[in-house]
Amino acid sequence: MKSIAALLSCLFLSTLPLLAEDDIKVGQVASLTGGRATFGVASDEGSKLAIEEINAAGGVLGRKLQLITVDDQSKPGEPAAAAKKLLSSDKVVALLGEVASSASLEMAPVAQAAGIPMISPASTNPKVTAAGDKIFRICFIDPFQGTVMSKFALDTLKAKRVAILTDSKNDYSVGLTQFFKKHFTANGGEVVAERQYGAGDKDFRSMLTAIRKEKPDAIFVPGYYSEVALIAKQARQLGLKAPLLGGDGWDSPALLEVGGKSLEGCFFSNHYSQEDAAPVIQDFIKRYKAKYNKVPDAMAALGYDSVLVLADAIKRAAGTDSAKLTAAIAATKGFAGVTGAITLDAERNATKSAVILEIKDGAFKYKSTVQP
Ligand code: PHE
Repeated sequence: MKSIAALLSCLFLSTLPLLAEDDIKVGQVASLTGGRATFGVASDEGSKLAIEEINAAGGVLGRKLQLITVDDQSKPGEPAAAAKKLLSSDKVVALLGEVASSASLEMAPVAQAAGIPMISPASTNPKVTAAGDKIFRICFIDPFQGTVMSKFALDTLKAKRVAILTDSKNDYSVGLTQFFKKHFTANGGEVVAERQYGAGDKDFRSMLTAIRKEKPDAIFVPGYYSEVALIAKQARQLGLKAPLLGGDGWDSPALLEVGGKSLEGCFFSNHYSQEDAAPVIQDFIKRYKAKYNKVPDAMAALGYDSVLVLADAIKRAAGTDSAKLTAAIAATKGFAGVTGAITLDAERNATKSAVILEIKDGAFKYKSTVQP
């Protein structure tokens, strides 16, 4: 009996992963619940897929990557607390996250003070990486994104008069408004009405009624999907027919579930298109679908890429020493991600093209690509 038990425990042990203490711990802060839940869930799914694939192929420097994700519930205050917990209790070698710029802006000083590198997959507000030399992002920034949508409004839609609705406590929304406006007004456009709202608001009728009086050619709404969907619905109920324009914050399956037909003929800029025929994108979509039974949105692709960039840097740093790892991330050059080639500049930002998507027949349809 004793020998059988010994044999069994031996067999059991041999099926356990190799020494878990030897794993490289990577922390991630994501909004898995709350008002931005689809952002966090998607980026976490993308990151997990990348971790799984890397580990299946033997890990990094012979060690497995272990992803520890903390849910910040889409609540102010939580991203900083989550980052602190990951750094002090879990002793992660790097932080991934957040998607939302306001949340990344909370995490960044924590990572910077601890001397641990942080990579945001998707935060586009310029202030995020300005927080310090340990803070990186693998996406484009909003001075570019704002210009992309302003040019599209002027050149493609021939819109001369726009109204703007801004989520006033959201750094991303405030920044994108500012960058759009700057380019639009400098190139002959006029902003005929500006209104502000807050995340969680449900009734936009009075501001939309005021906007209707100005008869704008288009309405720029650089916010997140939950409010944008309601704004679109209420705009149509009030007879406002002008197209709504937005940025990457629109990207969520929930936008169409809630906004439905009200969003037909509206446009937004984004990081990638699911319709892109490039094999790297189509192969990624296939693997993601096989695991999650759904099509990956931009955050999923960016979450995936953020892990790949980190793993590549750990390899080049030949370990996880913070200073060496930070230098290796900073030296990322021409890394072939799903969302394009990733080269980090002196400000620790990536320069990448944007796509413009049109909402047509209840889906996000590729319209054009804009080079930086
Ligand atoms: N760019 C947005 C921000 O900075 C976040 C986002 C990225 C949302 C990608 C959707 C898709 O807040």
